Amino acid sequence: MDAQGPPTRRSRHWFGAEGRSGMVYRSWMRNQGHGPEVFDGRPVIGIASTWSELAPCNAHLDRVAESVKRGVWQAGGFPLVFPVMATGETLMRPTAMLYRNLVAMVGEELIRANPLDGVVLLSGCDKTTPGLLMAAASVDLPAVMVTGGPMLNGKYQGGDVGSGTHVWKFEAEVKAGRMTVDECHVAEGCMARSNGHCMTMGTASTMACLAEALGMQLPGSASWPAVDSRRYETAQAAGRRIVAMVEEDLRPSAVLTRAAFENAIRANAAIGGSTNAVLHLLALAGRVGVELGLDDFDALIRQVPTLVDLMPSGRFLMEDFCYAGGLPVVLRRLAEAGLLHGDAVTVTGRGIGTEVADAACWNDEVIRPWDSPLQAAGSGTAVLAGNLCPRGAVLKQSAASPHLLVHEGRAVVFDSPEDYHAVCDDEDFDVAADDVIVVRGAGPKGYPGMPEVANVPIPTRLLRQGVTDMVRISDGRMSGTGFGTVVLHVSPEAAVGGPLALVRTGDRIRLDVPARTLDLLVSENELAERAADWTEPARSAADRSGYRWLYRAHVQQADLGADFDFLTGSRGSEVPRDSH
Ligand code: FES
Ligand code: MG
Repeated sequence: MDAQGPPTRRSRHWFGAEGRSGMVYRSWMRNQGHGPEVFDGRPVIGIASTWSELAPCNAHLDRVAESVKRGVWQAGGFPLVFPVMATGETLMRPTAMLYRNLVAMVGEELIRANPLDGVVLLSGCDKTTPGLLMAAASVDLPAVMVTGGPMLNGKYQGGDVGSGTHVWKFEAEVKAGRMTVDECHVAEGCMARSNGHCMTMGTASTMACLAEALGMQLPGSASWPAVDSRRYETAQAAGRRIVAMVEEDLRPSAVLTRAAFENAIRANAAIGGSTNAVLHLLALAGRVGVELGLDDFDALIRQVPTLVDLMPSGRFLMEDFCYAGGLPVVLRRLAEAGLLHGDAVTVTGRGIGTEVADAACWNDEVIRPWDSPLQAAGSGTAVLAGNLCPRGAVLKQSAASPHLLVHEGRAVVFDSPEDYHAVCDDEDFDVAADDVIVVRGAGPKGYPGMPEVANVPIPTRLLRQGVTDMVRISDGRMSGTGFGTVVLHVSPEAAVGGPLALVRTGDRIRLDVPARTLDLLVSENELAERAADWTEPARSAADRSGYRWLYRAHVQQADLGADFDFLTGSRGSEVPRDSH
């Protein structure tokens, strides 16, 4: 077999090999009906698919993969689809976040171990997008992402229903007696009415947009609904483009620069994106060696207003965002305000500023003009500091209640979400609307996996009195579709003895979001005494072996993106040793 194509092309070490090894590499591939021409030196393109029927948001990715394949063939490449584990938010226990790093590990190892020259990353549900980006960053072969697209807008009784967001709303309506259980059963069937990921600006839509803002996804492709034919056209274009990227040797390390992260952080503020993006961008930056800290997030959003009027912060849904022009409009508005690094290169090989320069907005209600935003500049995800969160915490201002952004109240403390749920419906639960509910034990090591449990429901008795929001504080996360005045990602977490572990019911806590502070109003001496008495919570048997042991032993705190300590950095694509 003649070695065609550039001698440095990675796949030639397999398919261009002579002797017994080359025969093994080629021969078994022929059982899929490929003729010898596919080994002629053309770029071999892996299509990393997180398809799974257990991840409903990704259940159509097999069809998206077919469109990518078509594009790869059109451009003269050789496409090969392979599965990377899928993480579905809705079914996985104790939380899909426990497995984001495993998605990244599986993806990284499969890309590196196989004869690939480039890779297309197919994702959808929340953790699959950052997981695959982290994988591709650590191998650093040419890579382009194709997200699966959002579901069509949910529709119930003539109105829009947002996935996730309306789960919390309907739950509160039923508890408050304004909706019957039967009505709720009908409504749940109206929420998820097509393939695709959540169509609110939850974590999946956020990460799809940020993959585009980072330059890793083709411009304009984040928001096409999963069932729109243009989703499939976009996938096909990505298939063609990855073949050219291999020829150009355009790698993630050239795309994922500090400038790209700054663009993504500002885009996240402008779209009213998920707090989970903070964790995922920090973890991704760690993979490519870009210096990025929590403080950068707060500093970068100060001048950025929330432009996109989508649930959970606003009114509309991803279909509306798509038809209004999608992310390119947002990026253009950032560029016109001088807040986009236009020269940051994207997977197209061009600067992102060039890509969005002509983006037209078709609906100023959905994507607001810069001078009449949904929320004023600096109202994105705030980063808090103080003696309750020495390594930071975050709060999504656009999803919070303005009257609670400066608040002092009595702490009512729970060691786990389960402890809270056990009393939250009780008529005699001793809690008042101006109390601060603390739910700890939900951090990366504590739960383990940092679940989306921080926005615990308002106590039922208070709900019936018309209370719609209270300050809640946790070392866990909140779903990107959630809302409320919720302090998240408190670091260090309670399970490692962070100050959150020392709070007692009756203490006073002061939150001042404009000043970016979160303080426990207890003397240093008293806290030192409590710290001396603190003992690490006992671990369950399930945490003493297997993956959960690995996770707890190596996961870093939220301020470092909860990546494994041994996965930071890039390990490249070299595999020096043969298998036969
Ligand atoms: Fe998969 Fe929301 S549950 S994206
Ligand atoms: Mg989620």
